[in-house]
Amino acid sequence: FNFNSKRVVSCKASNGKQNDADHTSFLNRFDRRDILLGLGGSLYGATSLVRDPFALAVVPIEPELSSCGESTVDTGKTCMNVPCCPPKLKDSKIIDFEPLLGRKIRYRPAAHLVDCNYLYKFELAMERMKALPVDDPRNFMQQANIHCAYCNGAYSQVGFPDQKLEVHYSWLFFPFHRMYLYFFERILGKLIDDPDFAMPFWNWDSPCGMTMPQIYLDPYSPLYDENRNLEHQPDVLVNLNDGKPFLKPKKTDDFYELTKREQIKSNLYVMYQQMVRSAKTASCFHGAAYLGGCESETDIGCTPEPRGGTIENGAHIAVHKFVGAKNPPYNEDMGNFYSAGRDPLFYAHHGNVDRMWNIWKTLQGKKRRDFDEDVWLNSSFLFYDENANMVRVKVRDCLDSKTLGYDYQSVDIPWLRSKPTPRRSRPGVGRGQDQGQDVLARRKSKYLRRFPIVLDKVPVRIEILRPKKPINKKKDDKEEVLVLQNIQLDRNDSVQFDVAINDDEDDDNTCKPEDAEFVGSFSNLPHGDNCHSEAMLSTNLYLPLSEALEDLKIPSEDRFIVVTLVPKEGEVSIGNIKIDYVC
Ligand code: C2O
Repeated sequence: FNFNSKRVVSCKASNGKQNDADHTSFLNRFDRRDILLGLGGSLYGATSLVRDPFALAVVPIEPELSSCGESTVDTGKTCMNVPCCPPKLKDSKIIDFEPLLGRKIRYRPAAHLVDCNYLYKFELAMERMKALPVDDPRNFMQQANIHCAYCNGAYSQVGFPDQKLEVHYSWLFFPFHRMYLYFFERILGKLIDDPDFAMPFWNWDSPCGMTMPQIYLDPYSPLYDENRNLEHQPDVLVNLNDGKPFLKPKKTDDFYELTKREQIKSNLYVMYQQMVRSAKTASCFHGAAYLGGCESETDIGCTPEPRGGTIENGAHIAVHKFVGAKNPPYNEDMGNFYSAGRDPLFYAHHGNVDRMWNIWKTLQGKKRRDFDEDVWLNSSFLFYDENANMVRVKVRDCLDSKTLGYDYQSVDIPWLRSKPTPRRSRPGVGRGQDQGQDVLARRKSKYLRRFPIVLDKVPVRIEILRPKKPINKKKDDKEEVLVLQNIQLDRNDSVQFDVAINDDEDDDNTCKPEDAEFVGSFSNLPHGDNCHSEAMLSTNLYLPLSEALEDLKIPSEDRFIVVTLVPKEGEVSIGNIKIDYVC
């Protein structure tokens, strides 16, 4: 392995990985990675040095158009290169984005509520978009390729030819997808001569919207895509926790066997979790900082602690998995980032993701505000607009959807009322509230474990020491957060695990989103973007605890929290778990 050429993209890289996922080979792969990181003076070898992300570099992210190259899609076993770059600029002119002011607001409708007049217009626009010449940047396939280019390594960053650009797993997620949809919508409007046209959103956070919207399911419609999971059509409810619908009794352990009603309820609790409970600050909701140019060993460019926000990691990925075909190795279309934009449903899905950003800012709490760092605000993306001109958009241009001229149809938000309750206070569950001293003592010996933890089939419990609440003023408004560090996994594996705190040890039923003990989940959508010989992804998970601690009436003097990790799919190793005042 050549340390200096870690960014070289090639499908020819030999693949030393073993396919059988037994522990030894899995650990070996990690060990090698660890050594690599150690030698590089890396991020993870020296986490204490990179506590403050802004000490590293403060350059905004910007794609280098001129060097756009092939995207790579890698499963670890197979790998392919895909051309996803936009058509060449005609006159090499890039316009800086200016919002069209003074227009009336266009309201994006919920897809399951539109009428036939609307549907007729929308289908006409999509049909025309698909019929544009293949090299027209506004053509549907070209639009789909934008997503592929921005997440499968087509671009490097301006000034840093060795740094790939990636718009997921960081604070670029919401702004990038917002502007991507914005231009898509403007193009549709132009094609039907209706500048006020607004695209539909998939209202998956509401009971009536939890199935794939009907208008996308007609095989003769331009909204249809055949690369989907047919078992989930027409009316299977999505599972927003992990994308696996209730109807699927899996092997012996039926985590997913819920009735429809239970599934809806569970989804609402999941939404509450990801929007309210765990998303009290910008960093929790948006994800980690992602900065231009600094040296790092991570797979997704320079982010001191790569980490997506609550919705990105949660419902967003669950819906991708739910829609994508069960079609190995790449699970096209929605199941893989390179192809996701080829499914018209993608744009409705991301409409709702974008709507969550709007809703989040209206929720109570003084910390629910976007970042104000210039390095975020000045990061930029490039899109062709409805007139096929290349436009540069900065994050600061897209903070307010109303400034961009659109908003969402107002529909009920039922999950706002889905606050979880403690499991052990409910009758018939667990052993009741009392956790005597001897129980704690027993726990201590039983739960002592060493890192890294390899999580594959059985739940793991571990006791984590809480730090003293810092008196430092600045830290004072920070959240008490459970931090899972250096989660290593094969970037091409579908991975999912749930996390609970102070859950009852003798109870066989694992925690669900309606339980106050449940504090969140981790999931990964396969997304190889660089044909490495080792397709390891290293990431972190932040799970804010304050509301859970309150709900469970855990006093601040309690020194230890018992953490339960429940594997659902795939295999990961977790480098460390701690509690910290961050986020
Ligand atoms: Cu760019 Cu839903 O992914």
